[in-house]
Amino acid sequence: MKMTGNTILITGGTSGIGLGLALRLHEAGNKVVVAGRRKELLDGITAEHPGIDGLVLDIADPDSIARARETVAASYPGLNVLVNNAGIMLRENLLDPAELPVAEDHVATNLLGTIRMTYAFLPLLAGKDDAVVMNVTSALAFVPYPSTPTYSATKAALHSFSESLRIQLAGADAGVQVIEVAPPGVRTTLLGQEDNEHAMPLDDFLTQTLDLLREKPDAKELVVEDARFIRDAQANGSYDNVLAMITSS
Ligand SMILES: NC(=O)c1ccc[n+]([C@@H]2O[C@H](COP(=O)([O-])OP(=O)(O)OC[C@H]3O[C@@H](n4cnc5c(N)ncnc54)[C@H](OP(=O)(O)O)[C@@H]3O)[C@@H](O)[C@H]2O)c1
Repeated sequence: MKMTGNTILITGGTSGIGLGLALRLHEAGNKVVVAGRRKELLDGITAEHPGIDGLVLDIADPDSIARARETVAASYPGLNVLVNNAGIMLRENLLDPAELPVAEDHVATNLLGTIRMTYAFLPLLAGKDDAVVMNVTSALAFVPYPSTPTYSATKAALHSFSESLRIQLAGADAGVQVIEVAPPGVRTTLLGQEDNEHAMPLDDFLTQTLDLLREKPDAKELVVEDARFIRDAQANGSYDNVLAMITSS
């Protein structure tokens, strides 16, 4: 992915990692459109950062995705980068039948929402120069956090989906790069970890992630140092220890 001169749509751009990426990429000389459900946040961001545009989008709602696609196709014909970053993360007790809706919401947003976004926006990207789909998964795609079982499962599925997407796009010679970002715990409001000292400060995460991309523009995965022990656990034989560690954290 080139670092400047792109037109980028970032889902979940109203807060946390998505907003952070939006500000950094805008500053680096890209046209950035941030998307999310909270219009008041979008309005605040666009007022404070002239040049960044806002788009109301609920990725759990197919009609909202269809409307967003029409708006983007008409207003941003140069779109060449889609960042699938929007997501939710909640704790879940699998032994309580009343919590099934929590699981369903994760699948509808994190997994089905991202898949629907991909189907809707790929036709706008295919054939563009320097086209990219960037999927924000999680280190928990590789070793689950048992307190957030469906969240972890959606991220494992998104890792798998990203792998297949990359292969299909390469097979079709579509010229679209697929980049997976697998963050460790980062201080955002996602699971109320904004003050958690064990999570990475957001600015450090953004700096390290964009440095990795600058060093390796054709990267398949962006995994900062703090996430490597989880990402590599299966391959290096430490899976059971890492799972035990995450379980007790
Ligand atoms: N922070 C971490 O520790 C961490 C670690 C690994 C992976 N991640 C991943 O990073 C991504 C961003 O999370 P974050 O930490 O930055 O959390 P965050 O601050 O809570 O941001 C989540 C974003 O997703 C958006 N969103 C949620 N549901 C949506 C929907 N149905 N439609 C459209 N947008 C929706 C929210 O915007 P609205 O509410 O305005 O819609 C918000 O902008 C997520 O995919 C998360 O799984 C985070």
